[in-house]
Amino acid sequence: MHISRRNLLRSLGTGAVVGAATSTLRGWPIAPATEEALWRNSVPMSRLPDGATAADPILLYRNENPYGPSEKVLGVLRESAAIGNRYPRTEYETLTDKLAALHKVKREQIVLGCGSGEILCMAAAAFLGSGKKLVQAAPTFPALGKLAQGAGSEIADVPLNKRYEHDLSVMLDRARTSAGLVYIVNPNNPTGTITPRKEIEAFLTKLPANVIVLIDEAYHHFASPSASYESFVDRPIGDPRVIVSRTFSKIYGLAGMRIGYAVATPEIAKRLAAGFPSWSVSVVSARAASAALDDVDYVRLGIKRNADDRQEFMNQVNARMLRAIDSQTNFVMVNPMRPPDEVIEHLKKNDILIGPKYPALDKYIRVSLGTPSEMLAFWRAWDLMPTTGKMAM
Ligand SMILES: Cc1ncc(COP(=O)(O)O)c(C=O)c1O
Repeated sequence: MHISRRNLLRSLGTGAVVGAATSTLRGWPIAPATEEALWRNSVPMSRLPDGATAADPILLYRNENPYGPSEKVLGVLRESAAIGNRYPRTEYETLTDKLAALHKVKREQIVLGCGSGEILCMAAAAFLGSGKKLVQAAPTFPALGKLAQGAGSEIADVPLNKRYEHDLSVMLDRARTSAGLVYIVNPNNPTGTITPRKEIEAFLTKLPANVIVLIDEAYHHFASPSASYESFVDRPIGDPRVIVSRTFSKIYGLAGMRIGYAVATPEIAKRLAAGFPSWSVSVVSARAASAALDDVDYVRLGIKRNADDRQEFMNQVNARMLRAIDSQTNFVMVNPMRPPDEVIEHLKKNDILIGPKYPALDKYIRVSLGTPSEMLAFWRAWDLMPTTGKMAM
């Protein structure tokens, strides 16, 4: 069954929430609301890109921050556009110094990139290639694997363990011969799970001395405080082989600005940056990132908001007796108890895009958390799914 987003939003305004679930969605007025108000709650009108309308799809597919950057950062973005005719002057130094101060490292230990995706490109160029293996989890964020393939590396895909953690004992075995790079995504994408810090520490003590380890902390801010998770930049381990990558795309809401960074030893940082232009980050992105680092209240708000949105999502999952992998990120892997392709297609017909299917977890779908009104529309569309295809999985 298909209903247009316009009709979907209109029907939501009547107060009907979901069929099976009776829980109210956090922060969402179930009382009558106009379509415009619903849409405004989803994306402020003032922030709609040129030409975007309520007919555009709801994007729950790339783990973006649905709330966007803070008002302060938006102000800086607007102001910075006016100097778009100038090459960067002091912006890189300012941002690098801020990051160095934040992480209590020297400025030579910071490498800026056009998104942390560019840091992955740098790592592939520096440490992979023919005769050098990439060891990574399956499933994990696929970009580095694709880069490794392009560079002619062998790839060792090691299935996650039963708890959806990186299986470090198997990864260690695979890294003992000809490995150039080990990739640990923590929390992991697409599972949203944590690999315990203690196990990573133990893994590092046994790893051959010449193997570099890239710990991707793109989703760091969303991990709930726990004994098993601690960032390797917030509490460094003093191991010169460890590179940590971070991004401004998630908690800071700057995915479209394409800015991220790595923290490494000065020697490794130099090797990462070698062969890459040192002027590729835009003035606007660098200024926005600096402002985002200063706006610590917005980071706090983002962490709280995501935790609430995630809890509400799990409430809705439980109300429908679905299964989901416990997430420490801004997305959740759900077993829809029916063929994932059907679910992806049904939601797409209802103008809702969710993540792709992951072959290593082919009974699951990945849903990025949207705003409360977007999630209300998501569950409303979910409940329109025909029951015929339903099966125990
Ligand atoms: C684990 C992980 N690393 C890196 C990236 C790339 O992010 P960006 O290039 O926007 O910093 C993503 C994007 O979703 C990701 O999930």
